[in-house]
Amino acid sequence: MQSLYFTLHFSTTSLVVPLFIGLLLILLSFKVLKWNFFYLHPKDKRLPPGSMGWPYIGETLMLYSQNPNSFFSIRQKRYGDIFKSHILGCPCVMISSPEAAKSVLVSQSHIFKPTYPPSKECLIGPEAIFFHQGPYHSRLKKLVLSSFLPSALKKAVPHIESIVIDTLSTCENKTINTLQEMKKYAFDVAMISAFGNNMELEIEEIKQLYHVLERGYNSMPLDVPGTSFYNAVKARKLLNEKLKNLIQKGRESKEIRGDRGLLGVLLGSEDGKENHLTDSQISDNIIGLIFAAHDTTASVLTWLLKYLHDNHDVLEAVATEQEEIRCRILEANRNLTWEDTRLMTLTSRVIQETLRSASILSFTFREAVEDVEFEGYFIPKGWKVLPLFRNIHHSAALFPQPHKFDPSRFEVAPQANSYMPFGKGAHSCPGNELAKLEMLILLHHLTTTYRWKVMGSNDGIQYGPFPVPKDGLPVTLFPINKT
Ligand code: HEM
Ligand SMILES: *[C@@H]1O[C@H](CO)[C@@H](O)[C@H](O)[C@H]1NC(C)=O
Ligand SMILES: *[C@@H]1O[C@H](CO)[C@@H](O)[C@H](O)[C@H]1NC(C)=O
Repeated sequence: MQSLYFTLHFSTTSLVVPLFIGLLLILLSFKVLKWNFFYLHPKDKRLPPGSMGWPYIGETLMLYSQNPNSFFSIRQKRYGDIFKSHILGCPCVMISSPEAAKSVLVSQSHIFKPTYPPSKECLIGPEAIFFHQGPYHSRLKKLVLSSFLPSALKKAVPHIESIVIDTLSTCENKTINTLQEMKKYAFDVAMISAFGNNMELEIEEIKQLYHVLERGYNSMPLDVPGTSFYNAVKARKLLNEKLKNLIQKGRESKEIRGDRGLLGVLLGSEDGKENHLTDSQISDNIIGLIFAAHDTTASVLTWLLKYLHDNHDVLEAVATEQEEIRCRILEANRNLTWEDTRLMTLTSRVIQETLRSASILSFTFREAVEDVEFEGYFIPKGWKVLPLFRNIHHSAALFPQPHKFDPSRFEVAPQANSYMPFGKGAHSCPGNELAKLEMLILLHHLTTTYRWKVMGSNDGIQYGPFPVPKDGLPVTLFPINKT
């Protein structure tokens, strides 16, 4: 997703960029003029340092013409931890200190509301959790979190394990695009967390429509027949109908709600209460959950394979830890359990380090709902505020030798507020335990059964829309001989 989490997408061809900027120019020239006159010269208030770039198009061109991460880190070096910029038609303040990021996301979160482009909001559905604050948000958050409690995750382990075994066996002896395979895996797990394991007819149709939706989400928001965006809007409407059918069935027969993932939880929330969730509140949140769950996890999994491939000692250490667990499981003639995953200490550190190093969510977006005094600076109402997770995760002061892949750094807990791969505060990721569980289960079978060789040139990053290894990391997966 470009992303739901606002990753800027760079997968588009160079042609699209000028077109996009041209559009912005026309649509926003009036607004931008106003910014230049007002905000760039506030009477006696000090804006953060930084360049707003050329009039009209701000620094968008710069951001699009270079690696986004060097865009951010060059500016951090030049201006410090808090600096202003102007991207995608919006004046904004970028933040790279842990304390300031915490202020935006936690202590002053009432002043900084989540903000997304209208095109994204309309494809996901305006009533999804991401777009809200206050009582509606906290009510939804409780429900979503309750579907990811350990008691719920425990039950998901056998289902996830069987998807892992299927996925890996179809890849055996083949050259695969890691990202694509991991997307399929993470998507199937996301569907289980949305609908539970009792797959009905509608689920297959929902899958197809969802893929059309996703393509449009990551493309230009031009609502003209023939464009991916147009098709996505259509698919979104059809999705609503399919989901309405499922919701209707669920409302009629209360017995089948037990093992039905988030859908069951959201349906159940209305029992005995007057303020039940509407059909569109339920469907927007189901779609939102699938969006949030799948590209993110798939991108991190792809980095895991890359880092393990490039760091042989780490791979062997993970394999040893997993081998021990495998032996115990085989001796007892049982399958993997939640309890087994709690013993994967070293593997968990590898996941932590992968989340830090890859920082696939480089930043998130908030918007100031009023004029604010912030860390000695003035931030005008309406400006975007971007906590730059990636800059924080790559700060040499917080993570010595930040470019080294070193899971042992997590043998001691990271400094407060310096590690937030899943965000922080009220909007932090409710799916983080599921995401980690998916990775542990995959790594268990992968490292005890297979080894893999990266094909083609080794390095390079692409944005699709999250940063991932070039070409989605083509690898050949072969079974290891066990003697
Ligand atoms: C490794 C994979 C994942 C990463 C790195 C990740 C990261 C994040 C981050 C940083 C946020 C906060 C965004 C912000 O504050 O603006 C977030 C929110 C969210 N994530 Fe994840 N996530 C991952 C996987 C998942 C999964 C598997 C699910 C669900 C099954 C999920 C569901 C959500 C939801 C619903 C929100 C919105 C919460 C709210 O607005 O209150 N995520 N995620
Ligand atoms: C993959 O190759 C190995 C070794 O050549 C072989 O033992 C195994 O049966 C093959 N697996 C499949 C699914 O073809
Ligand atoms: C383990 O899982 C497989 C399918 O994933 C199942 O067929 C088998 O019965 C399970 N074994 C035990 C001991 O539960």
